[in-house]
Amino acid sequence: MAKGFDPEFMRELKYKNDLVEVASGYMTLEKKGANYWACCPFHHEKTPSFSINGAEGFYHCFGCGVSGDVISFVKEIESVDFMEAVRILADRAKIAMPETNTNMEETVRRKQKKDELLKILRGSAVFYRANLYSGNAAPHVQYIRDRKMTDKTVRVFGLGASLDYRSLPQYLLDKGFQKEDMLQCGVVQESRTGELIDAQAGRLIYPIIDYMDNVIAFGGRILEKKDFAKYKNTKETPLFNKSRTLYNVNLLKKLKKTQNIGYVIMVEGYMDTISLYQAGFKNVVASMGTSLTMEQVRLLKRYSGNVYISYDGDFAGQKANSRGLEILKSEGMNVRVVPLPDGLDPDDVVKESGAEGYRKCLDAAMPLIDYKLSYAARGKDLTKAEDKRAYIASALNIIRESETQSEREDLLRILRDRTGVTYESLRRDLENLPAVPAVTGEQEKRKRPDAASRLVKAERFILACVLFDSPFARDYVPGMVDFTEPEHRVIADYIEKCWNAGEKPNAGTLFELFEEESPALDEILNLNYADNLRSAEGERYYNDSIRVLMAEKINKQIEILTQAALVATDAEERKMIHEQIQSYWEVKNSLKS
Ligand code: UTP
Ligand code: MN
Repeated sequence: MAKGFDPEFMRELKYKNDLVEVASGYMTLEKKGANYWACCPFHHEKTPSFSINGAEGFYHCFGCGVSGDVISFVKEIESVDFMEAVRILADRAKIAMPETNTNMEETVRRKQKKDELLKILRGSAVFYRANLYSGNAAPHVQYIRDRKMTDKTVRVFGLGASLDYRSLPQYLLDKGFQKEDMLQCGVVQESRTGELIDAQAGRLIYPIIDYMDNVIAFGGRILEKKDFAKYKNTKETPLFNKSRTLYNVNLLKKLKKTQNIGYVIMVEGYMDTISLYQAGFKNVVASMGTSLTMEQVRLLKRYSGNVYISYDGDFAGQKANSRGLEILKSEGMNVRVVPLPDGLDPDDVVKESGAEGYRKCLDAAMPLIDYKLSYAARGKDLTKAEDKRAYIASALNIIRESETQSEREDLLRILRDRTGVTYESLRRDLENLPAVPAVTGEQEKRKRPDAASRLVKAERFILACVLFDSPFARDYVPGMVDFTEPEHRVIADYIEKCWNAGEKPNAGTLFELFEEESPALDEILNLNYADNLRSAEGERYYNDSIRVLMAEKINKQIEILTQAALVATDAEERKMIHEQIQSYWEVKNSLKS
């Protein structure tokens, strides 16, 4: 805990370095209510959305979403690493840095563990690759041919083949690796009967490599045609966090050493990346199919400030307003959108019309807002009065988002040329739009989470209520719900530990539990500011969340028991299991109220 430092030292360090005092050395703080406010030092803004909670010892910015404790504050503002930040603060408070011997042991142990897991992943990659060239991987080789990947490309990306369930675990055991480590890094899993099996059995293997050139996970593609779940990625592990990973970042880093990268092309898939790379567009990375996260954007930013979004041809409708693009903007990246024909992804374009074809698309890339403007015209016949009116209405709403006067004027001119309506009257219409409503339909859509993120949200809300002593979380007991996200579990465990020790959890301390920025923690602290933790609406949401998550937990139990019933040979045992299942059902039904 506490990143290798003695907790006692950390406590003293933080006690003697009050966050409000330290921050005051860098910026002017204004006290409002219980908190201090300022313009955020970590992103550009004109109205203060950066706040400091002095009592709990953390800061949070509503604009860019960052949060942290006094150590991360110094780390960020001085651009130093964690150790250096600790040193600066120890100096400031005139306390001695602790002898690092005891911590060294812990650090060394952790490093050894990490190295061991990396070795297993690297070994697995080597094994898979050897399979591909062994003469036993005919279907995989055929697939590679069908997808038009050259031998060189296959080598550059280190592709491989899994041939069956057993050979990888056997190979790793023969090499002397421990079963626990093999499971922990996700390359193998346990079958129901307790045997070790290859997590990617039978698939074509795409190694996922981080910017330090470590293999951290695998993407595996099934070879048959299938519309759903064609890929299986290694589970989330201490080494692999999907939301912090960009596919091909390793080669992008190498590229940057040899040439200036004007912009990075952002695609969605493994195949898109590989195809573009092979066609000569080496400045490409993939977001692994999910919406872009803050960590991915920060990683990307190290290589270039300009990004060309190159998603599927019909992407704009669903994603032009997505959170990922908002993050790119808020991090100050220049975003352009590459228009692709409907229904085609970059790989399809290269296959159909070669590198020149894709080059043409790149040349047509346009700023995000222009793209939205053209997209709004799709399917509309601008010679028809009705369509034209509808188009102008949505176009003006888009133009309104523009941040500069000159851009607004440019866009109005585009709209004029497209519709034949005079500039002057468009400008007046724009000015006369009603003030931005509290929540526009578009924002509402953006906020509506999908099912998975609904659970994530529920878990975070529960943790915020518990952490900040919300009155309706009084009945919360550790273990009553299962937290699905690793970060959530870390926080829940911390709370439980504090309670067991008779202490009150402290939000500022939580930052010590994460190696890097934690989006979960950022959001939980954000929740503390809304009055939701005390309102009637919040209480309803809390109770719903608990109910949903308890039901989730029961479902899992039922599933396990059902499996057990299937394999139970003894009639008496089966009966007992069925009774248990029955009682779980009853609990579950009683939750619905
Ligand atoms: P795509 O379906 O666009 O990938 O999904 P692709 O690379 O174009 O796939 P093929 O091989 O040409 O059919 C985009 C990305 O989303 C993730 C993968 O990272 C994939 O590259 N994904 C997709 C999954 O993790 N699981 C899936 O089942 C599908
Ligand atoms: Mn594809």
